[in-house]
Amino acid sequence: MMYFNYAATSYKRPDCVIDAVIKAMSGSGNAGRGSSSVDLGSARTAYETRTELAKLFGFSYPERVVFSYNATTSLNQAILGLLNYGDHVIATDWDHNSVIRPLNYASERGTLVDYIQANANGKLRIEDLDGLIRSNTKLVICTHASNVTGDVADIRKITAVAHDHGIPVLVDASQTAGAYPINMEKDGIDILVFTGHKSLMGPTGTGGMCVGSNIDIAAVIRGGTGIQSLNPLQPSEYPEHLEAGTINIHGIAGLYAAVRYIANIGAENIRQKELTLANRFIMGIRDIPGITIYGSAGELSSERTSVVSMNISGIGADEVGDILTNRFDIAVRTGIHCAPRMHRALGTDRTGTVRFSFGLFNTEYEIDAAIEAVREISEMAGNV
Ligand code: ALA
Repeated sequence: MMYFNYAATSYKRPDCVIDAVIKAMSGSGNAGRGSSSVDLGSARTAYETRTELAKLFGFSYPERVVFSYNATTSLNQAILGLLNYGDHVIATDWDHNSVIRPLNYASERGTLVDYIQANANGKLRIEDLDGLIRSNTKLVICTHASNVTGDVADIRKITAVAHDHGIPVLVDASQTAGAYPINMEKDGIDILVFTGHKSLMGPTGTGGMCVGSNIDIAAVIRGGTGIQSLNPLQPSEYPEHLEAGTINIHGIAGLYAAVRYIANIGAENIRQKELTLANRFIMGIRDIPGITIYGSAGELSSERTSVVSMNISGIGADEVGDILTNRFDIAVRTGIHCAPRMHRALGTDRTGTVRFSFGLFNTEYEIDAAIEAVREISEMAGNV
């Protein structure tokens, strides 16, 4: 199979990640819940992973790297733990349902929500941010890169405007962590949410957030932490404050290996490799009759990830996906990609798009095969 669905998950993972999970499965205890060598070993693994993630993200507080099970869990924790009745929050049309649905829930409970809109080619109207800010705006949320078009947001511009008003910024790095350089301090990011299984190339069931030292998030998941067991309330110390229950140490051991693997190659080098593949694909398909490419992909912007969303005139996105799977053994993702606002902005909310997303392990040979498959399907659909 040729797998071009890396924006959904990293299908191929480095061998060291698989080995680390297997080793952890046969030799781990419970981090923070015992003093045997295996319990302490797990605590050390967790701490070292926090340290590696903090280094990768240019963040100075490893103890405030809080694990969860995916970006969705952390986004819910941050959104519901920060926003109360009467607060105002600004998110964007690029955001995923993992942001939009918790915001809709918060809105039913009296939080006021506005969105920075995207225009018809998917570009975010960041110039509108200043005008959307109110005296009760408590948070700005932005997806780092759209999972529909692959375009990357100008985070420094967003954080500069928000910080001028003293408002913290949460960045959802689900599509960029590991495959795009991120420096929380230089970029001005107050809370960074990541998932482990996509571009970080770790196991599913891993993810978390880096919570800036100026931020306190109320715990929405409460329970055992291994510390202060007589305290009737959730301890205020990080990371335990936001880490009730046993952490996924088997997954975290794999994530540690993955982050070390990325650190050795360098996020910028990974980005360049993936961008080269995406650009080769874009160059190969853009002159095929009947092809529409969404977002800035047509202009080969360098501020993008390896995601390319397209449609073929005369044939539906889901049908294209089926043909790619059944006839060409090519895996993509079609539909709305859990990003309804972005698809509405692009005018593709009724049709969806065919999304290709490339990873570090894809090859130029595979890209050329995908281009030929698109050409054949477009001819089948009557585009000449
Ligand atoms: N959010 C993931 C995607 O874009 C699953 O496919």
